[in-house]
Amino acid sequence: MSSGSSGTSGSSGFGKADWNALGELKVSKSDLRAFNGVFQTLMEEHGELTALFLRINSSSDVSVYKDLYPAVRRELLAHEMGEMAAVYPFVAAYADLESEAVRHGKEAGELKGAIMSIDVLDYGDARWKLGFEHVFALVRSHFDEEETRFFPRAQLLIGQENSEMLEARYQEGKVVID
Ligand SMILES: [Fe+2]
Ligand SMILES: [Fe+2]
Repeated sequence: MSSGSSGTSGSSGFGKADWNALGELKVSKSDLRAFNGVFQTLMEEHGELTALFLRINSSSDVSVYKDLYPAVRRELLAHEMGEMAAVYPFVAAYADLESEAVRHGKEAGELKGAIMSIDVLDYGDARWKLGFEHVFALVRSHFDEEETRFFPRAQLLIGQENSEMLEARYQEGKVVID
């Protein structure tokens, strides 16, 4: 008799196959009721950040960039820090999902690099808006992947009690960077 799950050492009983099976799960991005605890907070923050990104994206007024972007930048970086500190490591330990956490860290690093590349530009410089559009494209793709691929399965895997417990850890892990 073989255990058949040499890569899984957690006590939850979930292995990679189980995680992949959960991939069938489809949750509408607009259906916040489907999420609870930290996942609901993360979804709400994605919505708020996206709305602010859209306002900047649709404007050609430098004063709008100046007014809105510093807060968007700070909140986005804090959001990613909180996810990396509290959410991904916890879920990875449950389902042998180190690769999910690694992929997330890589994407967050790419995002930070794109943000830093416009930090050195003036808002009035045409390259700033182009760089901003690149940041927004990365953010959209990253949020979409989390909302449709990661959060629904992670929530199902760890359960409501843990996702509510993670909410406090997430808030502690959010580091505001100026
Ligand atoms: Fe993220
Ligand atoms: Fe996120």
